[in-house]
Amino acid sequence: MVSFLIAYASWSGNTQEVAEIVEETLLAGGIDVTVHRIGIGSIPDPRRFDAMIIGSFTWDKGSTPDEVKDFVADIGYKPENVYVFGTGDTQFGGDELFCGAAVKLAQFYESTYEPLTIEQSPRGAQEQKVIEWSKGVVQHWQHLHALKC
Ligand SMILES: Cc1cc2nc3c(=O)[nH]c(=O)nc-3n(C[C@H](O)[C@H](O)[C@H](O)COP(=O)(O)O)c2cc1C
Repeated sequence: MVSFLIAYASWSGNTQEVAEIVEETLLAGGIDVTVHRIGIGSIPDPRRFDAMIIGSFTWDKGSTPDEVKDFVADIGYKPENVYVFGTGDTQFGGDELFCGAAVKLAQFYESTYEPLTIEQSPRGAQEQKVIEWSKGVVQHWQHLHALKC
């Protein structure tokens, strides 16, 4: 069975809500999912999974939170097939700083799939956007996998 790791950091719950919708969508698509809250407990080894999805809020003028930086450092290598989502708030610096952590993580991991950026809570109008993105992740992974076989 195809298995994905979702690793996310959330301070006030928005990024956790996105992680939950991503998880539900992947499970509905027949993917086995392990969810890790960054900063709590031991880090699952990304090598055990077919892909890693990482989610983060943005802090301090477009910055990546320290616990997410620590997570990236603790993994110690750049897994292939990394997908990124993030939440942010355009009130903290407009489009330029919006979801800066997600943008930087996607660059760092050389993600070949557009990162998902959500304005605060995904519940309501943005929920469908999360579902479509998650379905797109699975299709993207299946396409890459088919090319490798
Ligand atoms: C002090 C502070 C600084 C923030 N800076 C930014 C920022 O630079 N860019 C951004 O997009 N969002 C920024 N935010 C908004 C959070 O990223 C946003 O509320 C996010 O959804 C929080 O996620 P969480 O609920 O998972 O913790 C900031 C929030 C706080 C409280």
